[in-house]
Amino acid sequence: MLVGVVFFVFLINFINAIDRMKNRSLISINDYTTEEYLRILDTAEDFEANPRQSLLNGYVIASLFFEPSTRTRLSFESAISQLGGKIVGFSSSASSSVQKGESLKDTILTVNNYCDLIVMRHPLEGSARYASEVADVPIINAGDGSNQHPTQCLLDLYSIRKTQGKLDNLNVAFVGDLKYGRTVHSLAIALSGFNTTYHLVSPVELKLPSAVKHYIKEKDLTYHQYTDLEEALPHVDIVYMTRIQRERFSDPMEYERVKNSYVLTRNLLKDVKQNLKVLHPLPRVNEISEDVDDTPQAYYFTQALNGVYVRMALLTTILGIK
Ligand code: CP
Repeated sequence: MLVGVVFFVFLINFINAIDRMKNRSLISINDYTTEEYLRILDTAEDFEANPRQSLLNGYVIASLFFEPSTRTRLSFESAISQLGGKIVGFSSSASSSVQKGESLKDTILTVNNYCDLIVMRHPLEGSARYASEVADVPIINAGDGSNQHPTQCLLDLYSIRKTQGKLDNLNVAFVGDLKYGRTVHSLAIALSGFNTTYHLVSPVELKLPSAVKHYIKEKDLTYHQYTDLEEALPHVDIVYMTRIQRERFSDPMEYERVKNSYVLTRNLLKDVKQNLKVLHPLPRVNEISEDVDDTPQAYYFTQALNGVYVRMALLTTILGIK
């Protein structure tokens, strides 16, 4: 009897979670609960096992990239194509009427008429939230300035779970630009739901913002700060490397001072934990030496592949198909 009641409550919660995600924009990783992340990861696992399904037949997705992208744009487009959907959009604002002075609001109100869902990357923090307030269709934030990159966060969680067999109780090092790195902000927040111990490695100028640290402190989790990468490496299960992003600096001299702060080499991986994996949202410049690429710890190109399955899961969940 008790087992029946527990199963019934689980089923109702599961159905409610599906309903809550349907037609809802994904702007910040905080928009989803931990249960909702896990549901996306489980659906992504199904897609990894069986990616060629015609679930998006008859759907049109707009892909609006006002800022450069390789992985996010092309993995979304690959996910949509493999599921039989159609894509409209642009890959730079230079090829859109933004070039003629059109506002973001007018662009969204127009594109909104042509599609079922909009995937959008924009250089301004808050632009995706604004777009979701004016659009009639759901918006997926594919990165808004230095603020958030929630779909990258979900594929990072997927990659961590896949390589470690769990998300709970891990030691995770974030290395590089923790101040402007939107992927770092989203992942650091999401991991606060999994009893993570944080190892924050950055130049003093590029420390994790206090608004993000707030999530770590709120859950009473431990974080250690370092300026030296070698000090953090022996303690961790995941090393999340990031690029120092020239485009986020208003002062070029400041960028020059910090640009080569960290380079992960094969030699540095000699005495690490046996289960350690190196992740990077990519693109890299020189922060991971190419001699790391064929080590057992390198996972960043598979991580980019995982983006296809996670984005399939997101699109079909938000459109209410899965
Ligand atoms: N990880 C990521 O956002 O890469 P792109 O800028 O190439 O999309």
